[in-house]
Amino acid sequence: MSNILITGGAGYIGSHTAKKLGQAGHHLTTLDNLSKGFRQAVLFGDLIEGDVGDMELVDDILKTRQIASVLHFAALTVVPESVENPLLYYWNNTSKTRNLIECCIRNRVRNFVFSSTAAVYGIPESGACSETSPLAPINPYGTSKMMSEIILRDAAAASELRFVVLRYFNVAGSDPDGDIGQSTPNATLLIKVACEAALGKREKLYVFGTDYATADGTGVRDYIHIDDLAQAHVQALQYLQEGGRSTTLNCGYGRGLSVREIINEVEDQHGAALPVEVAPRRAGDPPSLIACADAIKETLKWQPKYDNITDIVRTSLAWERDRKW
Ligand code: UD1
Repeated sequence: MSNILITGGAGYIGSHTAKKLGQAGHHLTTLDNLSKGFRQAVLFGDLIEGDVGDMELVDDILKTRQIASVLHFAALTVVPESVENPLLYYWNNTSKTRNLIECCIRNRVRNFVFSSTAAVYGIPESGACSETSPLAPINPYGTSKMMSEIILRDAAAASELRFVVLRYFNVAGSDPDGDIGQSTPNATLLIKVACEAALGKREKLYVFGTDYATADGTGVRDYIHIDDLAQAHVQALQYLQEGGRSTTLNCGYGRGLSVREIINEVEDQHGAALPVEVAPRRAGDPPSLIACADAIKETLKWQPKYDNITDIVRTSLAWERDRKW
């Protein structure tokens, strides 16, 4: 089993992936500054509290722990925040990723799995986005990730580093065993916010825009269960370890759900209406983002297990009700 560095491994997506890798017997080192993550979410291996932008620290970890593979989750991810503070996003997401890649190359790391986003596609011209759709981000968050992808591509072409870029669509849900979940402070994600509103942890849920050119006027997204996404990382790593070529893959199910449909599902499962208020569109939001998910199924032989909104909302509500932290 290999030595793996997981940046941002105490955060939402990183911790769910780390749990699967730990269960499979890999030796894990998590590097996390705990700005958004939780010590308790690190279930396997060592947690080093530090910043991925600290090149001296990263060099030391890669060298002394003989790291062969890096999964890079550490990032800021909130679209409206990136519109307000673009330089923070370019520094935190792009510059630090560039520096991490430099450390990886000089320490002979072979495999790099990078967390990218559907936000690189901007407002797709039609239907589902495939990996070859034009990259035209409409917010600094998407641009920060697009630039990181380009840096990774070029640096890998000039070295022995190989990568899988995973472009996440909308990640939701919690660990089906209930060990870990989404506890990000001041969360902005729709399903998380809706569950908080259902359980009285938030006064109300704002629907950001009801005048989009979508079936019911609200934003449409391709929600993917965290467990399926974590499994995609496990298989991406395995693919690289078996000699797979560098590639970029969408992570979604290939179907869209509107804000209203999500609210209906949460209300059905909770058994009561949510306190909802219509609000203006949110800065940086595209009307609709849906994945074409053929490539990931073909390349990684990935098959989703939770491709239904019932399981996504059920596990989200369960975590929100019984949160351990
Ligand atoms: C999320 C990710 C982003 C990723 C994108 C891919 C985070 C914090 N955001 O952004 O990194 O690039 O998926 O598609 O991880 N909405 C409301 N009320 C709310 C919250 C949201 O109406 O209180 C609406 C939004 O306007 C949008 C939809 O719900 O139409 C989803 O929003 P959200 O859950 O915040 O995710 P994204 O902005 O799509």
